[in-house]
Amino acid sequence: MSPGPVLDVRNVSVRFGGVAAVRDVSLQLRDREVVGLIGPNGAGKSSLLGALGGQIAVASGQVLLGGQDITAAPPYRRARLGVARTFQHTSTFDGLTVYENLLVSALGAQGSGLRGSLAGGRARRQRLAVAAEATWSRLREFELADMADRYGAELSGGQRRLVEIMRCLMRSPRVLLLDEPMVGVAPHLVQRIQADCARIRDSGVAVIIVEHALEVVEAVCDRVVVMASGQVVAQASYAEAMSSGAVREAYFA
Ligand SMILES: Nc1ncnc2c1ncn2[C@@H]1O[C@H](COP(=O)(O)OP(=O)(O)OP(=O)(O)O)[C@@H](O)[C@H]1O
Ligand SMILES: [Mg+2]
Repeated sequence: MSPGPVLDVRNVSVRFGGVAAVRDVSLQLRDREVVGLIGPNGAGKSSLLGALGGQIAVASGQVLLGGQDITAAPPYRRARLGVARTFQHTSTFDGLTVYENLLVSALGAQGSGLRGSLAGGRARRQRLAVAAEATWSRLREFELADMADRYGAELSGGQRRLVEIMRCLMRSPRVLLLDEPMVGVAPHLVQRIQADCARIRDSGVAVIIVEHALEVVEAVCDRVVVMASGQVVAQASYAEAMSSGAVREAYFA
């Protein structure tokens, strides 16, 4: 089998009224690759992630996942097909425990909700048992089993980010899109999340990280895509991109 790109973004544009937020962006993401999506404020990074996750409709262009055209697929369908994303602002469920936050995602991955799974019936109880085991397994993998009963509202910024990432992983994605996962995260957890990203990549997931902290990008990304004013101005290794005139211009113009 030919190892084509897991995600193939072809000439994608996003418009908000008169604002061209993303202009004719093409990029490819391969399995087991962490790509840093960088660029100054307003460059179009979050808009591009929205176009990939399905939260934002494209004005033109195509998004292919494993060769399948998902351009018109709504977010829930993309999630089922293997695209998971976190948002620039944290979105943990504050009123649920860490365990429940993950369990809801695990059940969603099976196409069932928490309420339905609790309603009884042998098959449903079986699904709940499978989801519960997957949840504990993920908590152990991330060494967070002792935080299972903490409520979302009690978590630190970094712990919330971790729970968001873990929630994505409950759905066994092929592509993970992280929008500024290190914002509001204490330094010791930044290192921890960096290591988690590398482990996630090594487990076979392709990752795009939008990140302003360039030392994080340098540490965790296999290569970078640089955006400015809605366009890709460079796709290269971190070192090559940083020495590129186009990138310096994008940041310091
Ligand atoms: N919902 C929206 N409605 C109108 N304009 C928007 C909307 N979202 C983004 N934009 C505009 O699109 C452009 C790109 O914004 P976007 O949020 O994608 O940039 P970004 O690279 O993620 O920036 P940041 O680093 O600050 O998060 C900006 O000009 C922004 O003002
Ligand atoms: Mg953004």
